[in-house]
Amino acid sequence: MSSLNGHATPEKSRLEKSRLDHHESDVVIIGAGILGSALAVTLGRQGRNVVLLEASMKEPDRIVGELLQPGGVQALEKLGLRDCLDGIDAIPVKGYYISYFEEPVVLDYPKLAPSEPAPEGWTFHHGRFVMKLREAALACPNVSVVEAKATALVTSTHTGQVLGVECIRKEQEIKDCYFAQLTVVADGYASKFRKVHHPHAPKFRSKFWGLEMIDAQLPSPYYGHVLLSDHAPVLMYQIGSHETRILVDIPENLPSASVKNGGVKGHLRNTVLPTLPESVQTAFLDALEKGQLRSMPNSFLPAATNKTPGLMILGDALNMRHPLTGGGMTVALNDVCVIRELLSPERVPSLSDTSLVLRQLSTFHWTRKNSSSVINILAQALYMLFAADDQNLKALQRGCFRYFQIGPVDGPVGLLAGLIKQPMVLFTHFFSVAFLSIWVLLRETPWTHLILFPYQSIMVFWTACVVIFPFIWAEIWS
Ligand SMILES: Cc1cc2nc3c(=O)[nH]c(=O)nc-3n(C[C@H](O)[C@H](O)[C@H](O)COP(=O)(O)OP(=O)(O)OC[C@H]3O[C@@H](n4cnc5c(N)ncnc54)[C@H](O)[C@@H]3O)c2cc1C
Ligand SMILES: *[C@@H]1O[C@H](CO)[C@@H](O)[C@H](O)[C@H]1NC(C)=O
Repeated sequence: MSSLNGHATPEKSRLEKSRLDHHESDVVIIGAGILGSALAVTLGRQGRNVVLLEASMKEPDRIVGELLQPGGVQALEKLGLRDCLDGIDAIPVKGYYISYFEEPVVLDYPKLAPSEPAPEGWTFHHGRFVMKLREAALACPNVSVVEAKATALVTSTHTGQVLGVECIRKEQEIKDCYFAQLTVVADGYASKFRKVHHPHAPKFRSKFWGLEMIDAQLPSPYYGHVLLSDHAPVLMYQIGSHETRILVDIPENLPSASVKNGGVKGHLRNTVLPTLPESVQTAFLDALEKGQLRSMPNSFLPAATNKTPGLMILGDALNMRHPLTGGGMTVALNDVCVIRELLSPERVPSLSDTSLVLRQLSTFHWTRKNSSSVINILAQALYMLFAADDQNLKALQRGCFRYFQIGPVDGPVGLLAGLIKQPMVLFTHFFSVAFLSIWVLLRETPWTHLILFPYQSIMVFWTACVVIFPFIWAEIWS
């Protein structure tokens, strides 16, 4: 048996043998990450035959996907995978602690109804959560997990239809092929298979640099921390009983992180350290000394409708937004919920009906936007404000923070949490922030400078439009 057999019941062995002997199944999925594993379980439970290919079944050790928003927890519940958060030393999250030049505001995730308990997010070690999702896939009799690195898609030369995947099996480095009615590309942010079938390429302007701090004292435990200052934002959240993640956003070509100034380490020590709460500074320095500094690009990639028969691109391979708001896994799990409805055996009896599948995928593209567009636009727009590098953006950043202090915050926090899935709510709050920013600007302008105010206020409003409209267009036109 070439697959990893989680719970070898006789039933599983029999089904597995037929899948693996014939190298043919209903679905073959490339990548057992967040999306691939959850999708394999979901389709398997619907009675589809699934082969899940994963380059490495070792526990991933990465600085990504460590905060699951309440909206993502809801999606996990819907998929019957809520227990994947158990036994991984996960920490509950009640909301956000945002500090602006050391002035803090605490924002709780809003209750959806007065009678319901307050929603919770969870933070954890990414790899432990992925291993739980993989275990769920291994336990599913209709899913076979094969440790293999996909190397190419097998495509029909005359129809262009994708027929399966070429791969190299880890065991004995054997070259192999798996054929399926539907091939799913879920190989993550650096997808090898996206290029030909996706019209957009990812863009990035900054990286997150991550350290793991031991026994750091956060100002407000059980809250995600966002620190705003003259520099790009810093995130902190506890990911285990003793471990706290800190992610520092560093824009490309930042002078204080240049080689001359001691590189990233110099920037962290000289520029970032003084802006951190005193209670975490020692743990931060210790982590910096240990030197396990790692980085990831913060990419933006608009989604596109899949048009290739026999293929479906999902997860980070399909769509990415800045990780500032921790929305990626929530988008991925929501997408699995939508796919479960649209490709259910009742609606699509056979996945070999590629024209029906393509029609459903075009519906998928628009249906998923209810939740994904809010998360995408919010992440990109908020990052622009939080990493403000000119006067107008700084005015908007100030207005945004004042809005968190005095405004109706259930809306914005509900959007952030992935609980409110209405683009109009985002639009209204964003422009309320723009107007509040202008009001704050007026109050801060000395009367001797009031003559400049009309011009400044127009520039702030214009900047707000320049921030948000490109991302709205990206959602509408892609
Ligand atoms: C710095 C940073 C921080 C983030 N923080 C958060 C957060 O707090 N909360 C959140 O919700 N999201 C966060 N995200 C986003 C989140 O990590 C992703 O959205 C999520 O992991 C996407 O899941 P995926 O399954 O598409 O990809 P992945 O989880 O990356 O899985 C891809 C899988 O494919 C496998 N693979 C790759 N190539 C091949 C191949 N050729 N053959 C076989 N297998 C292959 C990989 O080994 C991997 O297991 C963050 C992202 C970044 C960059
Ligand atoms: C596996 O698929 C069969 C149909 O092929 C279905 O009846 C069964 O419920 C599935 N098993 C599980 C555990 O999901």
